[in-house]
Amino acid sequence: MDKLRIRGGGRLEGTLRVAGAKNAALPIMAAALLTDEELRLDNVARLADTATMGRLLAGMGVLVARDGERFSLRARALTSAQAPYELVKTMRASVLVLGPLLARTGEARVSLPGGCAIGARPVDQHLKGLQALGADLQIEQGYIVARSGARLRGARIVTDLVTVTGTENLMMAASLAQGQTVIENAAREPEIADLAACLTAMGARIQGAGTDRIVIDGVERLHGAEYRIMPDRIETATFLAAAAATGGDVTLQGAAPGTLDAVLEKLRETGAGVELGADWIRLRMDHRPRAVSLRTAPYPAFPTDAQAQFLALNCIADGVARISENIFENRFMHVLELQRLGGKIDIDGHTAIVHGVDHLSGATVMATDLRASASLVIAGLVARGETTIERIYHLDRGYEQMERRLAGLGAQIERVR
Ligand code: UD1
Repeated sequence: MDKLRIRGGGRLEGTLRVAGAKNAALPIMAAALLTDEELRLDNVARLADTATMGRLLAGMGVLVARDGERFSLRARALTSAQAPYELVKTMRASVLVLGPLLARTGEARVSLPGGCAIGARPVDQHLKGLQALGADLQIEQGYIVARSGARLRGARIVTDLVTVTGTENLMMAASLAQGQTVIENAAREPEIADLAACLTAMGARIQGAGTDRIVIDGVERLHGAEYRIMPDRIETATFLAAAAATGGDVTLQGAAPGTLDAVLEKLRETGAGVELGADWIRLRMDHRPRAVSLRTAPYPAFPTDAQAQFLALNCIADGVARISENIFENRFMHVLELQRLGGKIDIDGHTAIVHGVDHLSGATVMATDLRASASLVIAGLVARGETTIERIYHLDRGYEQMERRLAGLGAQIERVR
């Protein structure tokens, strides 16, 4: 298994291009199931997760061709409506094929994702919404077995809580349903607006994506389209947190600053200088960061996917930060590893209290999930001496060649195979 070895202490300096958003690419790739014509995508990040989604779709009979950041997906005739456990267990977002499969073929068999390192993560809201659209759903041998005799029919759906992939699944299913669907309490994440823009390019009629009320007028068929995936705001937040922690000067190009208000606000609170253009962000930090407290919540509030990275930044900040995690119940796995690097962190329920220390010290640590891994990389970059991060396959799920790109900013980091 690959590891990362980091010699900490240097500052990050230079320019980096942000990759396409993982969390927009995954639902948009699944949307290829909704049409028998070709969906051509650009700016698809070269990640383990996008490769997994490609494999999942190929297993259903979708013709999948990839050339760097471009994907061609054509679901001319589907040979299977099944998402097997072997793939779903490696990537929970596989559940995104449920809505499109059901809408296109009237049936779907998708493995239940089960637990994961950051919490229980049920999919009851996906199921409740699809039932409202007329699907018959059973759980059989660990699989969600969904059927709809006739075409799905539009309905008013009020979700019990704000769910990102749940909203996406329902939006895709409703695109081909008969009549109008209204999703109330919809997630407002920019990736949902990105999916809606792609579906619209495919002929769907969707209004309100990006707000908490999405109205979808179902159409009989969707057609092929070309679409460019939005920039990854979580990757952007990760590199900015790394720049701030190391006292660096980094410019990120190809970014979407408008999707990062809460994150940029917190970076400014650390004392960093932040400059923005239409598609770039420059962060400069010339002193020890000030501690910043934050609470995660659905967009547009601070993203849970950047919590671990900001917790790492706070480990070496001046002052005490309170970090409250309000989305996932178990998303502090990185705390124990950060403590091994010398972080002074107490956990009180769903809040981590971080007492900034003057420096961290390198050690061997273990990545437990994707964003936890990113937080360990940030901590390794600031720690004195050498840090080895094990199990970095988690990192490869969501960051394209993290070590090569950080090395381009002057970090002393290498992959050990
Ligand atoms: C998506 C993101 C993930 C991010 C998360 C929260 C993708 C591919 N993944 O995950 O990176 O961390 O949003 O911003 O876009 N819940 C239920 N029942 C449901 C659905 C969700 O109880 O049916 C709960 C979850 O356990 C969690 C909360 O709702 O506590 C939010 O989860 P959700 O927004 O669904 O996360 P994902 O869509 O899985």
